[in-house]
Amino acid sequence: MRHRFTSHRRDISSVFRTSFFGATREAWDCRSLWALSGNRSFHSTTISAHGDIIRPEPGTGIKVNFKDSKGNLIRTVEANEGDDILGIAHEYDIDLEGACEGSIACSTCHVILSPEYYDLLPEPEDDENDMLDMAFGLTDTSRLGCQVKLTKELDGITATLPSATRNMFVDGKKPTHH
Ligand code: FES
Repeated sequence: MRHRFTSHRRDISSVFRTSFFGATREAWDCRSLWALSGNRSFHSTTISAHGDIIRPEPGTGIKVNFKDSKGNLIRTVEANEGDDILGIAHEYDIDLEGACEGSIACSTCHVILSPEYYDLLPEPEDDENDMLDMAFGLTDTSRLGCQVKLTKELDGITATLPSATRNMFVDGKKPTHH
């Protein structure tokens, strides 16, 4: 299995970004506010659009299992190709926050994937890894839900919610328990 800690490769510009913006809490909050203010050019990764999810006909969609931090099934839902896990969670009222609405400037959409499905995904971009590094309860198979696009081969994927998240926008690093 490919582990995010060992597969994580940062180029020079990423290391610079991380050390510069991650140097102090103030600098980090500044980065978050920048993203919140709508300056989308700051991030290089495509921003997800939420709120335009169309539920597939029952029995025809990609099945996504959401579990709580104790491993209990919350709900199995169906999605279309191209939907992301955060958007699907919101569509079906799963308690996954997504404070920055997919602009890769928070870690509140952190989910833990089952290893066999994690390995089917493209590796996370540096922006995503930077945010994951700030996530509460990080694991080898952690991803940002807003960055996981569903494909047919991901049918049956399980996304487990962590026991808490940090909302960098609102309360700095204070974990919010689910
Ligand atoms: Fe903020 Fe996914 S919603 S990074």
